[in-house]
Amino acid sequence: MVFNEKGSTRVLGLAGSLRAGSLNKKLLLAATGLAPAGMEIGIFDLGSIPLYNFDVEQAGDPPPVAAFKDAIHRVDGLLIATPEYQHGVPGVLKNALDWASRPPGKSVLQGKPVAIMGASPGFTGTARAQTQLRESFTFSQACAVLQPEVIVGRAHEKFDGDGRLTDATTIQLVRKLLDELNELVGLLRLSHSKLNSPAAP
Ligand code: FNR
Repeated sequence: MVFNEKGSTRVLGLAGSLRAGSLNKKLLLAATGLAPAGMEIGIFDLGSIPLYNFDVEQAGDPPPVAAFKDAIHRVDGLLIATPEYQHGVPGVLKNALDWASRPPGKSVLQGKPVAIMGASPGFTGTARAQTQLRESFTFSQACAVLQPEVIVGRAHEKFDGDGRLTDATTIQLVRKLLDELNELVGLLRLSHSKLNSPAAP
């Protein structure tokens, strides 16, 4: 995981696909270059996260899980690029978020701002997977950015041969999504500082 050092809003990027040529990895990488001033985006590769098992968890989080939770704990927000598998969230991403959602009620996801986007070659552009992901955050109490919905259909036509995002509308939407994430992080920071100030009732 590498952060550039220039900003004050730290974001952790997660791609729900492990393959090298992943459209969602490309979308996430593109987003790192579209971040507003003051935002730094690092990427955590989910490839090392084992399958969730309550018995394993009882014995203590495996090191990759502990590292994942720690990485989430240390950032102000998450940026997720999800593919859609069988009209839902791919197992790789769901499994990682299942680990991160533990223990329920006081996990690292609790109150964490999350921006969601997704890319697929089909016309529906991961819309159904994104809806499922939002629903899952109802349980873990992460705060998903509501708008814009960044639904990138026909995604294979929106990157050039070097994997660079070339579609102007998608670029604009990703910028807006990151602006909204920044705004939400700022709002939550303000409300926490007010709650923790000595003058608070
Ligand atoms: C898919 N794909 C797919 N696409 C979609 O729009 N809706 C879907 O329900 C599915 N289901 C699905 C299931 C499985 C098991 C695979 C492997 C693929 C196609 C998928 O969008 C395409 O492979 C993307 O390129 C996957 O994302 P990455 O790996 O490019 O990020």
